[in-house]
Amino acid sequence: MKSWRLNAFGIENLTLDDAPEREPGPGEVLVRMKALSLNYRDLLVVRGQYDPKLSFPLQPLSDGAGEVIAVGEGVTRWKSGDRVAGIFMQGWIEGGPSEEKAKTALGAAIPGVAAQQVLFDQEGLVAIPDHLSFEEAATLPCAAVTVWHALFTSGKLAPGETVLTQGTGGVSIFAVQFARMTGARVFATSSSDEKLARVAELGASETINYRSIPEWGREIRQQTNRIGVDHVVEVGGAGTLSQSLNAVRMGGHVALIGVLTGGEVNPVPILFRNIKVQGIFVGSREMFEDMNAAITEAKMKPVIGETFGFDDLPKALRRMESATHFGKIVLTV
Ligand SMILES: NC(=O)c1ccc[n+]([C@@H]2O[C@H](COP(=O)([O-])OP(=O)(O)OC[C@H]3O[C@@H](n4cnc5c(N)ncnc54)[C@H](OP(=O)(O)O)[C@@H]3O)[C@@H](O)[C@H]2O)c1
Repeated sequence: MKSWRLNAFGIENLTLDDAPEREPGPGEVLVRMKALSLNYRDLLVVRGQYDPKLSFPLQPLSDGAGEVIAVGEGVTRWKSGDRVAGIFMQGWIEGGPSEEKAKTALGAAIPGVAAQQVLFDQEGLVAIPDHLSFEEAATLPCAAVTVWHALFTSGKLAPGETVLTQGTGGVSIFAVQFARMTGARVFATSSSDEKLARVAELGASETINYRSIPEWGREIRQQTNRIGVDHVVEVGGAGTLSQSLNAVRMGGHVALIGVLTGGEVNPVPILFRNIKVQGIFVGSREMFEDMNAAITEAKMKPVIGETFGFDDLPKALRRMESATHFGKIVLTV
């Protein structure tokens, strides 16, 4: 079977190699991967900007879906033929985060899913919704679970509330979709008017080009009768947080998720305006299962911007680097 390996930092140091086929041991499940998806984190990992102390070779990527082809002794949760996806942190089953759970993240702390076959512990998988293809299900483990955690577990999003999303990448498009599923009003930003037209089709009622309106935080405050939005799904990081603090209402919730931009932040508005800033690092299997139940009920379909072949991982990462995509980038295995 084939597997991708990162041999040193840099997209040019990825190689597609032959790897031995493995048998599942006690409690293990062998999955024939059918589709993978990219996260911005994968780009950071490959470039050496995520964890400079990673050891090589590393099998990259955290997100994938496939079919169970063999189970080891004592496996009770799965059988051959089951359609599954891996959970981002293999050891975060339920409850809150911990240092130990964070050390089980696929594709950095432990080997990832960029292979034709992957061995998982039986606890590290969820069943995927029946109405989703493997490609659609492969988009869920990191970006979608992170948004679920941000908006529902942390933010307790309710119908009629307002949500601000930034840009049109994987995380932000899930944020638009989950907010609309709940009956929330969405304010979406992007660098591109064409992408804003697409995000409006997904249900964003207000759209703002952050390039043509650099003071978009104030603009959004105006558009909400000077109150501000209830929730911000913050993916820009230091370079966008000041605008987000202008856009959010007094006592509102900012889910700090991304690190796409650099800059400086004045923390004073956080205290003067009683803003709840919550860091989010993906989520648990329990959150993934709750999210899948909601996705199934709503028959929600993730938005795939572009699909590549398994052999095209370097090309797919370069597409992500160019930020020309909309929603998720997927690889068919
Ligand atoms: N904490 C966590 O657990 C977690 C989980 C998942 C992702 N993340 C982080 O979240 C961020 C997004 O990840 P992703 O996988 O969704 O990335 P992605 O698919 O590559 O999305 C990138 C998009 O972000 C938008 N963007 C770039 N600069 C921006 C800016 N200054 N203001 C607003 N939007 C901007 C662009 O959208 P337009 O082209 O529309 O402008 C770009 O296409 C990354 O920093 C990633 O590391 C964190």
